[in-house]
Amino acid sequence: MQTIWITGGSSGIGFAVAQKFLEENWRVIISSRNEDKLKKAVEKLKNITSNKEIYYKSCDVSKYKEVDSTIAHIENEISTINIALLNATAYSPNRNQEFDINNYKLLIDVNLNGTINCIDVLKNYMKGRDNLISIVSSPVGYRGMPTAGAYGMTKAAQLNLVESLYFDFKKLNIKISVINPGFIDTESTKLNSFKMPFLKPASYAAKKIFKGLTGKYKFEIYFPFILVFTVKIMRYLPLRIYAFIWKKLGNF
Ligand SMILES: NC(=O)c1ccc[n+]([C@@H]2O[C@H](COP(=O)([O-])OP(=O)(O)OC[C@H]3O[C@@H](n4cnc5c(N)ncnc54)[C@H](OP(=O)(O)O)[C@@H]3O)[C@@H](O)[C@H]2O)c1
Repeated sequence: MQTIWITGGSSGIGFAVAQKFLEENWRVIISSRNEDKLKKAVEKLKNITSNKEIYYKSCDVSKYKEVDSTIAHIENEISTINIALLNATAYSPNRNQEFDINNYKLLIDVNLNGTINCIDVLKNYMKGRDNLISIVSSPVGYRGMPTAGAYGMTKAAQLNLVESLYFDFKKLNIKISVINPGFIDTESTKLNSFKMPFLKPASYAAKKIFKGLTGKYKFEIYFPFILVFTVKIMRYLPLRIYAFIWKKLGNF
């Protein structure tokens, strides 16, 4: 039986991915900050799947010591980790436009420092084992978007980081990949005040992520194709045309 560790696994995409991997007979460990939420998530997963190989360990990814002790606990007490899905996120869309520096700092702490904390500890365990670290980023990181300053900056940095590590981690025999979902219906996106095109349920994301992570190695997993591919194309537009589109879309 193979093992996946999912950060931010108590809700949203992380929870749905945990369910999918359990259904496919994987051992799953979920982490997030709130222990009660984690316990409830585990109870729910035990009720909806027959696979009981589900564990939890609370861990704030922005705190290096917690990340260190969580990964040590999993590796020493539960199982070696075959896939680490770095999915935890802080998200606060309605505060981005005010240039709220505390919001920027929070998102850097969780989305960026949290990611590098996990990678730093994982690499020591995973080197030479041909394991996979996959980071859930966002198409928002492809190019600066209105109102997305803090979140988009951290997601862009994740995309850049993963691309760098794709090269550097080859010598450690650790695979690294990135997941870029379109709009998925979760607690985070319920905070959005705008209409989200091609909004999909978390179970849809889970199926795509399972297929992408367990099939032939893919550097980038993205879905739904039509939405994310369009955003990819927008990266190459001259700023004047890009700005014109945003003006038409939302008077930005
Ligand atoms: N939903 C979308 O449309 C969408 C689109 C593109 C990309 N994404 C990406 O997909 C990932 C999951 O998003 P989601 O929408 O599923 O989010 P979500 O439902 O809001 O879940 C976020 C998870 O992260 C945990 N978390 C927050 N801060 C944490 C911290 N400091 N340490 C550890 N865990 C923490 C939360 O639990 P606690 O509060 O208990 O810690 C929760 O389990 C994120 O990386 C997001 O950027 C989402």
